[in-house]
Amino acid sequence: MRADQSMNTSRDAAVAALADLPREPGVSKPDPILIADNVVRRFGGLTAVDVDHVEVQRGAITALIGPNGAGKTTFFNLLTGFDKVDEGEWTYNGKAIQGVPPYKVARMGMVRTFQLTKVLTRLTVIENMRLGATGQRGERVLPSVIRALWSGQEREITERADDLLRRFKLDAKREDFAGSLSGGQRKLLEMARSLMVNPELVMLDEPMAGVNPALTQSLLGHVKDLRELGMTVLFVEHDMDMVRDISDWVIVMAQGKIIAEGPPHEVMADTRVIDAYLGAHHDQSLAEIAEEEGLDVAGEILDTDGGVQT
Ligand SMILES: Nc1ncnc2c1ncn2[C@@H]1O[C@H](COP(=O)(O)OP(=O)(O)OP(=O)(O)O)[C@@H](O)[C@H]1O
Ligand SMILES: [Mg+2]
Repeated sequence: MRADQSMNTSRDAAVAALADLPREPGVSKPDPILIADNVVRRFGGLTAVDVDHVEVQRGAITALIGPNGAGKTTFFNLLTGFDKVDEGEWTYNGKAIQGVPPYKVARMGMVRTFQLTKVLTRLTVIENMRLGATGQRGERVLPSVIRALWSGQEREITERADDLLRRFKLDAKREDFAGSLSGGQRKLLEMARSLMVNPELVMLDEPMAGVNPALTQSLLGHVKDLRELGMTVLFVEHDMDMVRDISDWVIVMAQGKIIAEGPPHEVMADTRVIDAYLGAHHDQSLAEIAEEEGLDVAGEILDTDGGVQT
């Protein structure tokens, strides 16, 4: 046994719970925290999301991957109430939450971060954190209203914020404007801020995008910590090394649909997945991985038709 394996008990449990599942899109999970059915979102003539059925296993780190334009961000927006579906329903912890506004979804314990960070640049780091306690409705709420929403819990909230800032090594930046942070630090702040509501399900949209290598390991560590702390993570990511490193299960979207599911290594060797990526002329990293795995994908390259738009 490797020395670090004893540190990975939550990962072992998550992997074991998923090990024997059929590798099928929409497969039922032993203990789903999120279940979505028939979720459709159209933009004019384009069907951006068309998910028949998908379940997210509690306590696991699940990656949602797929080429540019596959509908991953739109699906996140729908599930968390930031966008409205044309059809469909979903449950979080057994409760139907379609139509519930984002701040209420967050207060129920389901939070998300954004592909382009939404830290408020003209507020300080600690102010951003305190705002997180209101469940991500800061963008539209005045400071005076926020104080009322805290309803006398100000000290508790500030203590929690300071604990999280220390954990994410942002305490030295406490009084700095968020606008003065680097891209990677903003990603960290956004993740820390999302934890202010003590969530059960944390949804991260490209947490590593634009993060410099010095912060990459730290971010990876923080995501793994969430699982160790008993949280469920669903994250969108294009960096296949990260996906392989931290995810227990991978769900693949292409052209709005779930096209494959399984453990990272199996999914990345799945020809349907490779086709979807090559068809989109993006994310050559996956093609490279396919080559490493000894798969001949040259034929598929010639057969593709341009696939998903960006
Ligand atoms: N508000 C919108 N209006 C019109 N079309 C949209 C809108 N939002 C997304 N789309 C389209 O829906 C499709 C899915 O977009 P989405 O951003 O969800 O993809 P994605 O999988 O997150 O891609 P990426 O990996 O590039 O972030 C794309 O074709 C996109 O152009
Ligand atoms: Mg996206």
